[in-house]
Amino acid sequence: MIHIRPFQSSDLDSIVKIEKKAFPLPWSARSFLDCARWKEFWFYVAIWDKKVVGYFVAQVVEEEAELHNIAIDPARQKKGFGERLLRFFLDTARQKGVREIFLMVRPSNTAAICLYQKLEFVLIDKRPRYYADTGEEALIFHFTRNRILHEEPDIL
Ligand SMILES: CC(C)(COP(=O)(O)OP(=O)(O)OC[C@H]1O[C@@H](n2cnc3c(N)ncnc32)[C@H](O)[C@@H]1OP(=O)(O)O)[C@@H](O)C(=O)NCCC(=O)NCCS
Repeated sequence: MIHIRPFQSSDLDSIVKIEKKAFPLPWSARSFLDCARWKEFWFYVAIWDKKVVGYFVAQVVEEEAELHNIAIDPARQKKGFGERLLRFFLDTARQKGVREIFLMVRPSNTAAICLYQKLEFVLIDKRPRYYADTGEEALIFHFTRNRILHEEPDIL
């Protein structure tokens, strides 16, 4: 059974190892520790079989959140853990009154884009030449539980 709980400093080594395997431009240990210091950052880890298998970091300011990082250990991907972690974030955000969530992703990251679309994130914008290593643009996805209500004024 997967268990999701707040980050503890003893998780750091496992997280940094996963991060290096999961991303072409990985965050440093210092970046994770900086996020862990601030209350506006939500930093959770997914535990399976007593091991850290994934994590997410989001920044929440009042009713708005940005998902800055989410990853599952490549050796444990495609088992439903990423979806569980993201659903946990969405449920927690709803309980805390967050109304809108934003994130950025590379167009080449098919797995992440499929996950976001499965959970009803919608592509709303692009940021050209965002990623320093490839020059790829960033796709900006948005999630809200009130999408139809939000869109009504444009339709009327
Ligand atoms: C994106 C990521 C978190 C998904 O985690 P995961 O545990 O492998 O995903 P899950 O097994 O929970 O899959 C949930 C859904 O995601 C999508 N998905 C996951 N892997 C996919 C793949 N390789 N190709 C296409 N869709 C994929 C599917 O929609 C899937 O639903 P389905 O099983 O009903 O088809 C994982 O691939 C990862 O850590 N990638 C590296 C880090 C990263 O890119 N993070 C996002 C940065 S924006």
